Amino acid sequence: MSKKIFVANWKMNPQTIEEAKELCNLYIQETSKYPNITVVICPPILYVEELSGLLAASNVANLFLGIQDFFWEESGAFTGEISLNMLKKFNIQYALVGHSERRYIKGETDEMVNKKLLAAMWSNITPILLIGEKEKDDFKEDIFIDQLARGLKGVEGNEADRLVIAYEPVWAISSKSSGQSDNPDNTVEAIKTIRNILRKMYDKNFIDLPMLYGGSVNSGNIENFLSRPEIFGAAVGSASIKKEEIPFLLEVVSKQSH
Ligand code: PGA
Repeated sequence: MSKKIFVANWKMNPQTIEEAKELCNLYIQETSKYPNITVVICPPILYVEELSGLLAASNVANLFLGIQDFFWEESGAFTGEISLNMLKKFNIQYALVGHSERRYIKGETDEMVNKKLLAAMWSNITPILLIGEKEKDDFKEDIFIDQLARGLKGVEGNEADRLVIAYEPVWAISSKSSGQSDNPDNTVEAIKTIRNILRKMYDKNFIDLPMLYGGSVNSGNIENFLSRPEIFGAAVGSASIKKEEIPFLLEVVSKQSH
């Protein structure tokens, strides 16, 4: 688990498939320079089919396609939803689950997050479970215990290594009025707390899963986070669609990846 991970959550951007292809091509070009990192792009679902073709043709083995959301059932009367069954032919490798914008704007509960997480694991897609406190002065440990116990319900000890966890304090997300990144010392503490909770939950000395940080990561601060050995990567929103930032961001991830 030494390759650092860069997860690009494009959210509801860009507005056209042409721009999405351009962005994807930039990721292909830049990621191909750094075989020592793992890059996951999570575009809007509408672009997945086309971008999956671009990625397949590019043959860049360390650049993967992720999805921002999906529904946990395979088929049926679920208006507006899309199943993993429909998406699997596009070679999806990762799926975000529990992003705060889905929890707090769309009303997703930990129980729904759990259903998605299990569905992703059953489909051999690596879930990236996002957890974090809503307000800066919230008591983190209790929140983590709750989000992990409910979000990981049904995940056995021998499966716990098949996920990625991103610590993403909601107050630190760039679109919030409070949106300023956490400081790396606090993030390291939070990650240690999460690891301790997982050890207790699974009665294991060591759970070998990557822990990422997300929340206003950009080219000005990414090195401060990724230079910390406890932080295995970054989940990046707004900076991940800025063409002028992407080359530098990936260069830093590579420099910090051993
Ligand atoms: P941000 O978003 O990098 O724009 O803060 C992070 C996220 O929401 O995953």
